[in-house]
Amino acid sequence: MLLRLLKALLLSAIVTPTLSIDSTFSEDLTEYVDPFCGTEGQGNPGSAAGGGNVFPGPALPFGVVKFGIDTTAFDWTNVDANAGYTPDGFVTGVSMLHESGTGGAPTYGFVHQMPLSTLENVNVLDNFTYMQERVEPDIASVGYYKTVLANGVSAELTATAHAGLVQYNFTTRDERHILVDVSHMLPSSGEAQHSQFYSNGFLARSPDGSKYQGYGVYRGGFSSRPDAPVYFCAEFDTIPEHVQLFSGPYTDPYWPNSTLPHIDPPVFTNATSVSGGQTYYSYARRIGGLFTFPSNTTTLKSKIGISFINSDKACQFISSELTSWSLEPYIESAVARWNSEVLSKVTTMDKSNTTLLEMLYSGLYKMHLMPSDRTGENQNWETEEPSYDDFYTLWDTFRCLNSYLVLTAPKRAADIVRSLVDIWRWERFMPDGRSGNYNGRVQGGSNADNVLADAYIKGLSAPEYGINWTDAYAAMKTDAELVPYNTFDYGDPTGSVKEGRGALPDWLSLGYVSMYDPVEGTGFGRCISRTIEYGLNDFALSQVAKDLAPQDHVKYLNRSAGWQQIWQHNLTSLNFTGFLAPLYANGTRDPSYSPLNCGVWCSWSDVTYEGLPWEYTWSIPYDMSTLIAFMGGSELTELRLDAIFIPGLQDGSVGAGNGAGTAIFNPGNEPSFGTPFLYNYLPKRQWKSVMRSREIVNEYYTNGRDGVPGNSDAGALESWMVWNLIGLYPMVTQDVYLILSPWFSDLNISVAGDKTLKITTEGLDQGPYIQSLTVNGESWNKSWVTHGDLVGGDGGGIHFVLGSEQTEWDVGDVPPSPGHMDIGIRN
Ligand SMILES: *[C@@H]1O[C@H](CO)[C@@H](O)[C@H](O)[C@H]1NC(C)=O
Ligand SMILES: *[C@@H]1O[C@H](CO)[C@@H](O)[C@H](O)[C@H]1NC(C)=O
Ligand SMILES: *[C@@H]1O[C@H](CO)[C@@H](O)[C@H](O)[C@H]1NC(C)=O
Ligand SMILES: *[C@@H]1O[C@H](CO)[C@@H](O)[C@H](O)[C@H]1NC(C)=O
Ligand SMILES: *[C@@H]1O[C@H](CO)[C@@H](O)[C@H](O)[C@H]1NC(C)=O
Ligand SMILES: *[C@@H]1O[C@H](CO)[C@@H](O)[C@H](O)[C@H]1NC(C)=O
Ligand SMILES: *[C@@H]1O[C@H](CO)[C@@H](O)[C@H](O)[C@H]1NC(C)=O
Ligand SMILES: *[C@@H]1O[C@H](CO)[C@@H](O)[C@H](O)[C@H]1NC(C)=O
Ligand SMILES: *[C@@H]1O[C@H](CO)[C@@H](O)[C@H](O)[C@H]1NC(C)=O
Ligand SMILES: *[C@@H]1O[C@H](CO)[C@@H](O)[C@H](O)[C@H]1NC(C)=O
Ligand SMILES: *[C@@H]1O[C@H](CO)[C@@H](O)[C@H](O)[C@H]1NC(C)=O
Ligand SMILES: *[C@@H]1O[C@H](CO)[C@@H](O)[C@H](O)[C@H]1NC(C)=O
Repeated sequence: MLLRLLKALLLSAIVTPTLSIDSTFSEDLTEYVDPFCGTEGQGNPGSAAGGGNVFPGPALPFGVVKFGIDTTAFDWTNVDANAGYTPDGFVTGVSMLHESGTGGAPTYGFVHQMPLSTLENVNVLDNFTYMQERVEPDIASVGYYKTVLANGVSAELTATAHAGLVQYNFTTRDERHILVDVSHMLPSSGEAQHSQFYSNGFLARSPDGSKYQGYGVYRGGFSSRPDAPVYFCAEFDTIPEHVQLFSGPYTDPYWPNSTLPHIDPPVFTNATSVSGGQTYYSYARRIGGLFTFPSNTTTLKSKIGISFINSDKACQFISSELTSWSLEPYIESAVARWNSEVLSKVTTMDKSNTTLLEMLYSGLYKMHLMPSDRTGENQNWETEEPSYDDFYTLWDTFRCLNSYLVLTAPKRAADIVRSLVDIWRWERFMPDGRSGNYNGRVQGGSNADNVLADAYIKGLSAPEYGINWTDAYAAMKTDAELVPYNTFDYGDPTGSVKEGRGALPDWLSLGYVSMYDPVEGTGFGRCISRTIEYGLNDFALSQVAKDLAPQDHVKYLNRSAGWQQIWQHNLTSLNFTGFLAPLYANGTRDPSYSPLNCGVWCSWSDVTYEGLPWEYTWSIPYDMSTLIAFMGGSELTELRLDAIFIPGLQDGSVGAGNGAGTAIFNPGNEPSFGTPFLYNYLPKRQWKSVMRSREIVNEYYTNGRDGVPGNSDAGALESWMVWNLIGLYPMVTQDVYLILSPWFSDLNISVAGDKTLKITTEGLDQGPYIQSLTVNGESWNKSWVTHGDLVGGDGGGIHFVLGSEQTEWDVGDVPPSPGHMDIGIRN
């Protein structure tokens, strides 16, 4: 409520919007967006532990700049401030670059300012000596953030694509300082090998001290990137009365339980520039500046621009994007951009439930914060192609977030594909994860393959989208055929986790990924989950090859059936028979193996990654017919699906999204995304998918700060929820959307650029189950539709007649199994 009042105040003060809003669209849907949704853990109010790690600061859709506060969390054993923000930490500054929703080693937190009201006991190189508690709850709305610090200074932030504007109000004390620590970055509590490091920097100020520019060089983070610079340029609206630049020796990054070494104070200088050291030196001196303003300054503003090319370009972004010193026009244009580009893609007349509207629009918001659109800002090569960074990670987003972009924002989806292909042109591999312009890390398959195939089969092969499909397919083939250099990651030294398919040698020679055997030196980590994901990747290749390289079509289709080689037909668990199993290179398995057990913690060197083998057994979306046959037919498959929702069957850690329930199904992580809807593959059982959809969303998703049951993962969890609310679920790489049941009585969804998909219901107040259905005016008895049905209809859309009865309406063909193949192996 507070949030909405504030926005009303801000908006009423604005006269000239700087961006034109879609003329047919005037409603402000940002009122339903809470940027804090997904920042706290379920069951851990006030803490980020187990939470979404969502970035709550101002940013444009896919904006380079994500301007927010950075905090020092104290509970280092549970919490990383992956997006800078935690609810309970002390503030160490504001900074310009962040990820949203990620896990793993924190990345970014660069280009810093911190307002100080005293220098007593402050060592500007030691953030523990100046960090500040917050004395009021932070406030955030689209394009705006406010924090009030214990030292009597408040900071209000807004952002454009490449710049940020901050307004500090000094209220209580006499002194007014802005500290700029070029060596500031997010600390990491875990994954020490992937911690970030400050390497070097340069800072120059104007003679009067009202402007400064320079760069910092950093390395590490989730992708373990090497040294690379981030350039900045900043100015103040007030001339400081005093400026001192400073430098001090290199310090190690903070990590849990390290006794933070005593950090000596820096050397101050009146010179107008300060340098860390020789350009390529990684242990250069930490540098910064302390800007002191006259005591009558009450409001101080600063514009900060970012570039990956040079600091003059960062200055140009300030002059082109921030022409005013007032925050309002930029808040207004952020609101306009989010409305026109993102939120208005889904509209409803059904305003009966504000909670649901907030879930929908906060979800859409978080789905469009990443990747970052760095077009024109590629620091590694010159290109006419779009450049995106912060794929963190495709392993998370390929399952349904990228498919949402293909349906509702095909131009954007195509640009993302073009950027992936351009990375392949220059770096030999598309990324699975990428941040800081560096590929890494790969959790399973080479999932850019899935993103490309999904785009290809859903119309982005049309020339107007500008994707060079010859190159795109060559990029996919690289993943399928070229063994990437092993990066010997400590999490799994058996094969590369940087890019491509680290376990490809097994996939090529055995047709499956074999279990690591330290004695023989054979096999790889994550053998089951990588077998599963490589299968889908090869299925993806087969779908694109159909037209582009017909000679490859059967080859990759054959390879996609590799999972059948590790299917153990007589292996029993919880009354069910037939499971995937880790096989050694000689085809045998450890007799003690149980599909309820992934190894130690379902991580890099275990047999499955962030999910149990029981769960991964469901991940054959392209050949459900063989899977159902292997499971003993529809009835046993249904019982087995039912079993994964029984509380208490999860045995030990599943690595991520943990704590969200005790069933084998894990609502908090991606491997479980498609499972609840597989009832659609069983005749007359679609109602059970609806039942699961309702149960899971009701239990684990809300509009609150703890509104997602695990790391948001760049919006992947939110995209899963949004598909549920819409009543459809995409089977990625296939021309298939499973039908669920919408949560709104009517929805208009903007699809294919210029068309509207109408989803209408009657009887929603009676219950969620489908009584009957029409698709584009035709009565419908199948539990699925095609992309063409959604975008190519006559505008009739999908009309649901809903009710409380669990009706067996879906008597038509079950969804197809386009990768159907039984290779005849019976283990
Ligand atoms: C900061 O000061 C300005 C000017 O007095 C005022 O309009 C604004 O509301 C203040 N902001 C905060 C967060 O106190
Ligand atoms: C605080 O400074 C230490 C180095 O002394 C650094 O490792 C850490 O990342 C900083 N923390 C934040 C939140 O800036
Ligand atoms: C750090 O110390 C805490 C408390 O003593 C302990 O529980 C935790 O395991 C330690 N963490 C690491 C990474 O050593
Ligand atoms: C910087 O200039 C001030 C004012 O002229 C002077 O007091 C101070 O000693 C100088 N500092 C250094 C490090 O030279
Ligand atoms: C602060 O004081 C200086 C010098 O006395 C004066 O020039 C300036 O206008 C004052 N600024 C404000 C914001 O009052
Ligand atoms: C959906 O679009 C139709 C026109 O195609 C319009 O009549 C209806 O009001 C729209 N509904 C929403 C929720 O915008
Ligand atoms: C609104 O939707 C939420 C989420 O589904 C639900 O918990 C709540 O009961 C609904 N409120 C009303 C009044 O129907
Ligand atoms: C695709 O790129 C290749 C070189 O990478 C080029 O030879 C070919 O002409 C391009 N195709 C199209 C349609 O632009
Ligand atoms: C595909 O597999 C079948 C047998 O499963 C085999 O007969 C055929 O030659 C294979 N095709 C290719 C292209 O590998
Ligand atoms: C397995 O079978 C036993 C005995 O019929 C039954 O009690 C149990 O509930 C079954 N377990 C599951 C997971 O279906
Ligand atoms: C297969 O390999 C495993 C692991 O190296 C070994 O323990 C087992 O004895 C081998 N079995 C056969 C039949 O060679
Ligand atoms: C599975 O068990 C059955 C009956 O015990 C046996 O006939 C069959 O050969 C076994 N199959 C495999 C692949 O071991």
